[in-house]
Amino acid sequence: MLKALRSVVRLRRFERNGALRRLERASNLEDLRLLAKKRLPGGVFDYIDGAAEDERTAARNKQGFAAISFKPRVLRGIESIDTSTELLGRRLPLPLILAPTGFTRMADSAGELSVARAAERAGLPYGLSTLSTRSIEDVAAVSSGDKWFQVYVWRDRDLVDEMLKRAAACHYSTIILTVDNTVLGRRERDVRRGFTLPPKIGLDTIFDGLRHPSWTWDFITSAPIKFANLTESKVGDGSDPVSLATYINSQLDPSLSWDDLTWLRDRWKGKLVIKGIQSVEDAQLSVDHGVDAIALSNHGGRQLDDAPAPIDLLPAVAAALGGQTEIIVDGGVRRGSDIVKAVALGATACMVGRPYLYGLGAAGEVGVDFVIDHFANGVERTLALLGCPSVDDLGPQYLLANKH
Ligand code: FNR
Ligand code: LAC
Repeated sequence: MLKALRSVVRLRRFERNGALRRLERASNLEDLRLLAKKRLPGGVFDYIDGAAEDERTAARNKQGFAAISFKPRVLRGIESIDTSTELLGRRLPLPLILAPTGFTRMADSAGELSVARAAERAGLPYGLSTLSTRSIEDVAAVSSGDKWFQVYVWRDRDLVDEMLKRAAACHYSTIILTVDNTVLGRRERDVRRGFTLPPKIGLDTIFDGLRHPSWTWDFITSAPIKFANLTESKVGDGSDPVSLATYINSQLDPSLSWDDLTWLRDRWKGKLVIKGIQSVEDAQLSVDHGVDAIALSNHGGRQLDDAPAPIDLLPAVAAALGGQTEIIVDGGVRRGSDIVKAVALGATACMVGRPYLYGLGAAGEVGVDFVIDHFANGVERTLALLGCPSVDDLGPQYLLANKH
């Protein structure tokens, strides 16, 4: 009887590492998202997962991908698949960049260090946020991978100048100027909770913390969460809890204009990406101002609700620019097949934000590795099923024509 039972039941080896054990049962990003939801306090999860107002743009970002059908080809004798591509003069193993996200240490205390290390292991670029909770220098100390630095333009221009010098000294290859955040979008989940950054330790946080003991232990036993790039500046390093809206609206310059892009272009010798482009007109203006790439982005739906989904905007932008510059797409990319669709429509690469934060919140650094593998396997499998030998061979011929 035992023999019969053994022939049909295969017990998994017990995984001692808690993070790996959690990942064993995850098969996609939605699984990781639910794991992160269980592990993180509600306010932290909602800050990451939430978006502006009715969250329609956040939903549309994903629907845009779902609305595109493939046109698979068969019997093509393909023996191997090449998922690599060239972006800003470098060969990447996969058309993927880890997008800048602020306050990453809230998801897990190692924060940006974990993301930078995972990106380097996979050979992918990582964009460190201005509002990061590990500094430009600390991230450079753990990663010799391709590092980008995201810039918000402060009212105090000397601060921007100083950060650019620090990024150059630490060999960041590229800056990303984010232009869709001069005032903060209204994230109503955060408004409802009175959410502050870092999270305030009030009575409700303590109760919430009791329900999420591993996060709470990690939070109280590690160094306080601060804006690590601003510890010596006068604009506030985030050690006093503030609402993000109050902070952004008082410190970032709402009068940002195309002249500032020229100012920045003159000061930065490396590559320059402009992030937050949401129209064909601004894509063209960006090219006129000498950027090396544009990122079609609506900040993951966190800023203007009813802004267009980047994937929907992509065909018109690609047609208007006709290869004058490289195009990056972010917002709602959740599978390798989404990346394949974007590249087929003219993008060079995609960026992801929430996906790796879900990984980090669910399982720490190995969770980020899991997310990158999920995308890498997804791109490779999709190409194989499409009968397309490489990312560089992708084009609209692999999509059902009537949609675009
Ligand atoms: C962001 N994003 C962002 N962008 C940026 O330029 N600077 C920043 O500091 C942040 N911070 C940030 C925090 C969090 C929690 C999220 C989820 C996002 C936007 C980010 O770079 C990217 O545009 C979106 O995350 C892309 O959408 P998905 O992949 O999250 O759907
Ligand atoms: C956000 C800011 C940090 O989206 O960009 O929350």
